[in-house]
Amino acid sequence: MPFQPFDLTGKVALVTGGNSGIGLGMAEGLAAAGASVAIWGRNTAKNASAREALLKHGGAVEALEVDVADEQAVVDATAETLRRLGRIDTCIANAGVGGGAPLTEQTTEGWRKVTAVNLDAVFWTFREATKHMVERAEAGDPGGSLLVTSSTSAIHGAPRNQAYAATKAGVLAMVRATAVELARYGIRANAVLPGWIATEMTERLQGWDKFTEKAIGRVPMRRWGEGEDFAGIAVYFASDASRFHTGDSVVIDGGYTIF
Ligand SMILES: NC(=O)c1ccc[n+]([C@@H]2O[C@H](COP(=O)([O-])OP(=O)(O)OC[C@H]3O[C@@H](n4cnc5c(N)ncnc54)[C@H](OP(=O)(O)O)[C@@H]3O)[C@@H](O)[C@H]2O)c1
Repeated sequence: MPFQPFDLTGKVALVTGGNSGIGLGMAEGLAAAGASVAIWGRNTAKNASAREALLKHGGAVEALEVDVADEQAVVDATAETLRRLGRIDTCIANAGVGGGAPLTEQTTEGWRKVTAVNLDAVFWTFREATKHMVERAEAGDPGGSLLVTSSTSAIHGAPRNQAYAATKAGVLAMVRATAVELARYGIRANAVLPGWIATEMTERLQGWDKFTEKAIGRVPMRRWGEGEDFAGIAVYFASDASRFHTGDSVVIDGGYTIF
């Protein structure tokens, strides 16, 4: 039997925000590697078209309409995902929102809109998936992988983005705490930090020539990242190839942060 650490046949992966951009790129990789996939998002049309695309890989695909900023919705959607797919081996908390403004103009309401999705929801999503993984481990089936989409904003100064940057740094600490606590169950927790990626979130920046020249011009790979650039890291962390890899933060930015 050849060494096939990236074969995800029999595994179930959940990707929040899996209906577009980075999350869809991750879900595509997971489905192509043989996993059954659940995606969560608010938008019915985006969910339906992402599901269509993912079904082409031949495995089970479930798309759930979920607002992850609502704690009860996360609790219910986790139960529904388990009901439909039987288990969750990999949980990717990827749903996120931006929301920049000069600091003097930022409101508490705006701050909470960002922190609810990018930080609170990660906590709720990980907590609910972990309850299932720990229960399973105690019944003799250990393992599980938690992954969060952070951002290079966690390590760079991100002007007008105090809330966004704080959430993206916060999840790195959450991942380290979780990795240490849950290792005894074989559960791993890691973070991925994307750089500048061409998705709906960065649509305005993509049309701004000065930004393209000054920022994308500084990316050693000389291009915007794409959602599909995140397929590989999702498969790696979902697979047995990463079975001893936990508590880490992986930067995927075409070399931007080290230049
Ligand atoms: N693009 C970049 O340059 C970049 C860089 C670093 C990090 N990131 C991070 O990457 C992640 C994915 O973003 P993206 O760039 O791929 O942007 P995107 O295409 O706009 O995707 C955002 C995803 O999050 C979902 N979402 C947002 N709020 C939600 C909510 N309340 N409940 C459920 N789902 C919600 C969206 O689905 P619905 O609209 O259907 O709800 C969508 O699937 C985010 O965490 C973002 O912060 C992006």
